[in-house]
Amino acid sequence: MTDATFLKENNVKNFWHAMAHPAEMRANPPKIIVAASGVEITDVAGKTVLDAVGGLWNANLGYSCEPIKRAITAQLDELPYYSSFRGTTTGPLIELSAQIYEWFKEDGMTRSFFTSGGSDSVETCLRLARQYHKVVGDKDRTKFIALKKGYHGTHYGGASVNGNANFRRNYEPLMPGVFHIAAPWTYRNPFNLDDAEQVAKACIAMLEEEIKFQGADTIAAFIMEPVLGAGGVIVPHKSFMPMVREVCDKHGILLIADEVITAFGRTGAWSGSRLWGVKPDMMATAKGISNAYFPFGAALINDKIANAFENNKDSFGAIGHGYTYSGHPVGCAAALAALRETKRLNVKDNAAAMGSELIAGLQELQLKYPVIGDVRGIGLMCALELVSDRQSKEPAAKALLARVYEATYEAGVMLRVSGNTIILSPPLIIDSDDVKKIISALDVGLAAA
Ligand SMILES: Cc1ncc(COP(=O)(O)O)c(C=O)c1O
Repeated sequence: MTDATFLKENNVKNFWHAMAHPAEMRANPPKIIVAASGVEITDVAGKTVLDAVGGLWNANLGYSCEPIKRAITAQLDELPYYSSFRGTTTGPLIELSAQIYEWFKEDGMTRSFFTSGGSDSVETCLRLARQYHKVVGDKDRTKFIALKKGYHGTHYGGASVNGNANFRRNYEPLMPGVFHIAAPWTYRNPFNLDDAEQVAKACIAMLEEEIKFQGADTIAAFIMEPVLGAGGVIVPHKSFMPMVREVCDKHGILLIADEVITAFGRTGAWSGSRLWGVKPDMMATAKGISNAYFPFGAALINDKIANAFENNKDSFGAIGHGYTYSGHPVGCAAALAALRETKRLNVKDNAAAMGSELIAGLQELQLKYPVIGDVRGIGLMCALELVSDRQSKEPAAKALLARVYEATYEAGVMLRVSGNTIILSPPLIIDSDDVKKIISALDVGLAAA
């Protein structure tokens, strides 16, 4: 391992961190993580903590998944790369597409388009949605509708459908023709409602209104996360996504499910769409597909779209889109092994069971600490929203969240802080002792607030 003194001296010197202010990172250098095992990570000072972030919602099987490591090494030896652009393909790609078909056929997904991550998958879905309408002769359908608070990655298409000003403002102007409606968020919504079902209905009314205003025949697709992740773990009422599907169908609008976080078990179901009983037209996936060990993703497509493209006889059906690393054989090998392990360990059921224990523990903390305004989550995606006043819901100060973060880390658990929200997305293989450890470390962290 590189000398610890060198690492500390050169930390942030020559590098800009993603999703961070460079000046702030220089003033407050990030923790240097040097090793990981099971569900734990170790920093350069030798401190080992439980990773309640799960990498970045992606190390679903933890850090010691030997079958994936072996598959990557073997594939590097056999065929480290070949392109899947027109004219060539590879064995792992063909095998993975067959596996993905089996995995998602219950969701109606029958074709894959492999990518290098979540932003790529979203971009592919947005592009193919527009192209689909051109293929079927509906050429005015170019607009997108999305949810405020939604996160869809960082390419220009994805950033344009993102619903959080932090990811938009500094990069404007974004793509024209994108419109947002309120998120189905019970804790904070513009309707002054506190009943989840009523909030869902109000959002749907807003969606109908926006479609009418824009003209249904100008809208290509609606994109949403089945459970909003980076926006602060917003779990819609169970009626919301089915109602979205109904509205989309009524108006000929495609439904894109951004399942970058929710696919492969995190919510307690194999996909977020399945959790809500909805079949989208397309899905964007990534993260858990390779258990974080290789940058990989897949945009998935249903029969309706596949048939339109495959039966097309003019140039509109030709896909003028793709990435050098689309279907990278090492990524495919990693994903094949990750899917096998994900299924063998049946992590969705563990996510559901451990998620219930985690939420129960967080609710107990809420009884103890008035600073916890809201506890929410499903499966192993949970959040605590910290407020300075429960009545007004004024967000807690940044410095308070920083204190909670540091004290919790000292007590043995890594958290993720986003604005005034603490996000928990541990590996899906955690057990009850790990849940207890997260709760007791948070207890220490919150006491330090
Ligand atoms: C729902 C969702 N979509 C897209 C993305 C972008 O994925 P990536 O960071 O792999 O490009 C993310 C990343 O967190 C995400 O949570």
